[in-house]
Amino acid sequence: MKTRLASALLFLGFAAAAFASKEKPVIGLSLDTLKEERWQRDRDTFTAEAQKLGATVIVQSANSDDTRQVRDVESLISRGVDVLVIVPHNGEAMTRAVKSANDAKIPVIAYDRLIKNCAIDYYLSFDNVKVGEAQGSYAASRLPSDRKARLVRIYGAPTDNNAKMFKQGQDNILGPLIKAGKVEVLHEDWALDWKPENGKKIMNAAITKAGRTIDAVVVSNDGTAGGAIQALLEEGLAGKVLVTGQDADLAACQRIQRGTQAMTVYKPLKNLATLAARVAVDVAKGNKPAATSTLDNGVKKVPSIFEKVISVDRDNLMSTVVADGFHKAADLK
Ligand code: BGC
Repeated sequence: MKTRLASALLFLGFAAAAFASKEKPVIGLSLDTLKEERWQRDRDTFTAEAQKLGATVIVQSANSDDTRQVRDVESLISRGVDVLVIVPHNGEAMTRAVKSANDAKIPVIAYDRLIKNCAIDYYLSFDNVKVGEAQGSYAASRLPSDRKARLVRIYGAPTDNNAKMFKQGQDNILGPLIKAGKVEVLHEDWALDWKPENGKKIMNAAITKAGRTIDAVVVSNDGTAGGAIQALLEEGLAGKVLVTGQDADLAACQRIQRGTQAMTVYKPLKNLATLAARVAVDVAKGNKPAATSTLDNGVKKVPSIFEKVISVDRDNLMSTVVADGFHKAADLK
């Protein structure tokens, strides 16, 4: 049985390799997860654009499991893809798989999240420090100034380099206020795997430790903000505490309309996914598309492109997220 499966996979691999040509490249897209709404959009937009350009996309999703994602990438390599586009679950664990791609002379593009300490060809993302700065500034400008403000901080997955960049951006704004004694951090923690239930647990722990007087919770994304808001709801505090987020998930935009979440950071995924598909096809054809920036990943300055982000609250939800066609006004009720 195992051998039959193996030979079927081998055949598929040869088939993909046989169809691969400069005009009709095959792209391997390896995703950490498809659980959050955003990654489904990334996949769909990327695939549609790549197909428009004559490419085929083979998509794998690893369900937040490093071993599985390394295996996914290795199987894409053995199927003979022309280029790999990877959203790593863990930007350090993925190094090994990238080395196999290097050996097979398959170019690698890190999508949204950086892969560290190996030779990747491109890094395409948003300005992730700016995401954190947008969250920090939004909260900072609305904190009470007649007393020491009381803050909770919920960071993202410690395995995701982006989570560190979001924190760095938040620190750029909140750090000086904390140092000056204007803001007190009551509780802070990292939400493993960006899971909403971990956001909820951290919020519960914060309330248990610091009580109900909390001015703001700076949360790094909408999924974990949803968890934190659930904990606040159960305490009758939702809507009374400022909560930040990121991704403009539908549920988060609805919470913004209802007033239980204050803001999100809108990242126009269409721009990033379309750009990535174009770069991937170009690279597969042996070209070197121009980058606008570089980022050091530990071994090289990786040619990079960073898309802009937009801070969104109830005042500009319609003129940004809705006007852009990201969500329909009717769905935000
Ligand atoms: C992405 C965020 C996302 C988070 C969880 C981060 O790397 O940049 O947009 O919310 O991962 O999937």
